[in-house]
Amino acid sequence: MSYYGIFLLTCTLSLIIVNTVHASFMVSSVVEEVKDNPDIYLKTPELIRKYGYPVEIHDVITADGYILTLHRIPHGRKKHVGSDQNRISRPPVFMQHGLLSSSACWILASPENGPAYIMADAGYDVWLGNARGNLYSRNHTRFDPNASHFWQFSWDEMAEYDIPAVIDYVLATTGYSQLYYIGHSMGTTMFFAGMSARPEYNKKVKAMFGLGPVATTAHILSPIKYLAPFSKDINIILKLLGKYEFLPSNPEYIKWTEVICTHYKFEKLMCRNALFFLTGFDAHEFNMTWLPVILGHGAEGTSSKTVVHFAQEVNSGKFQRYDYGYYGNMKIYHQHTPPPYNLSQVTVPVALLWANNDWLADPKDVAGLAAGLPNLVINLKMPLPDFNHIDFVWGIDCKKLVYDKILKYMPYF
Ligand SMILES: *[C@@H]1O[C@H](CO)[C@@H](O)[C@H](O)[C@H]1NC(C)=O
Ligand SMILES: *[C@@H]1O[C@H](CO)[C@@H](O)[C@H](O)[C@H]1NC(C)=O
Ligand SMILES: *[C@@H]1O[C@H](CO)[C@@H](O)[C@H](O)[C@H]1NC(C)=O
Ligand SMILES: *[C@@H]1O[C@H](CO)[C@@H](O)[C@H](O)[C@H]1NC(C)=O
Repeated sequence: MSYYGIFLLTCTLSLIIVNTVHASFMVSSVVEEVKDNPDIYLKTPELIRKYGYPVEIHDVITADGYILTLHRIPHGRKKHVGSDQNRISRPPVFMQHGLLSSSACWILASPENGPAYIMADAGYDVWLGNARGNLYSRNHTRFDPNASHFWQFSWDEMAEYDIPAVIDYVLATTGYSQLYYIGHSMGTTMFFAGMSARPEYNKKVKAMFGLGPVATTAHILSPIKYLAPFSKDINIILKLLGKYEFLPSNPEYIKWTEVICTHYKFEKLMCRNALFFLTGFDAHEFNMTWLPVILGHGAEGTSSKTVVHFAQEVNSGKFQRYDYGYYGNMKIYHQHTPPPYNLSQVTVPVALLWANNDWLADPKDVAGLAAGLPNLVINLKMPLPDFNHIDFVWGIDCKKLVYDKILKYMPYF
């Protein structure tokens, strides 16, 4: 067996092991209760309240019946910011998390460094999205999440239904005619696909900020790419990933991350490096204080099809709809290949913020995306050479390098 073959097998096995360990916590409850850092167990609204911000919970129903939860931070710790003490106009900012994540990804830091807190304190009305299938959006008007039918979606449906539903809801609730969109990772994929599939939504977005942006994944370094060879055989991959739901939030796993990743230095480093293994190594930007909390919120669930869709793009190198195979495509799209997304339809002014050491949004893939966007206004490479995929939300310097920049650009749109 070749070296490559062994490596591929190792990666596949680790994925299976991670999955099995994760799944086994579903049925067993052997881990003792330890409560060192209560933040590990808190849900998004509880965390927001704990850190002194107001929070609202809103349900949005998509055209295809999924019930999505939005978390809103309507204003910062001080109600009025700026020189005008009576200022009540707070333009809405919608923030969309990445793969396997949730609205929590924007607040797993102290208020000084948490992206959602930074935007709220700067005077914006902050709305945090939750993609269908995650911990907070695991419900449907007709389908039960326990049934396979619920999980028949990838980021195609998030783009086609979730994005329009939440944009309409936020605009209707706030009375604004446009919002700002900030996306991380899959949160950018959903946006580009959404604006391409539903071009009429372009006029509802003032500007889009894409952090670690992902459209094609031909060059990614993350071991996720080792799923790609199997993505043609949907049955193998569903066996590897779990039948329909992928890494759902699970209390036993969360306890496990606390026990393993909180107390001992060596184990802590192993936990952190496992995260880096998926996203790129950058020890300087990682605040170890938040590691258990970040890992505790690290797997909030999606559908297996969503992961397969990314794996398909590693193979195809194209930004296109889910590939159902020759006959499946014919049935669904009336052609043998999946229709491509047309980036020319994304007419919103877009700012891309990307990094050299990002294992999920490789600079070569980002360059391809940048070349395809007709209204790219800012194309900003992070100045730190080690800056990685997760530093956009959790990096020690993310305020200075990412959000202060966004806040500076926003008034110009
Ligand atoms: C890491 O997070 C803790 C807790 O929020 C904070 O007190 C500390 O200043 C942070 N460290 C750095 C280097 O930012
Ligand atoms: C799911 O949505 C239905 C309404 O369609 C509601 O009655 C039910 O309580 C919700 N379930 C959960 C777990 O939120
Ligand atoms: C889904 O399954 C879980 C356990 O398998 C069960 O606890 C839960 O009640 C089920 N939910 C519904 C809505 O049937
Ligand atoms: C993509 O969209 C642009 C602008 O609407 C259009 O001119 C072009 O023909 C489209 N390309 C494809 C392949 O559909």
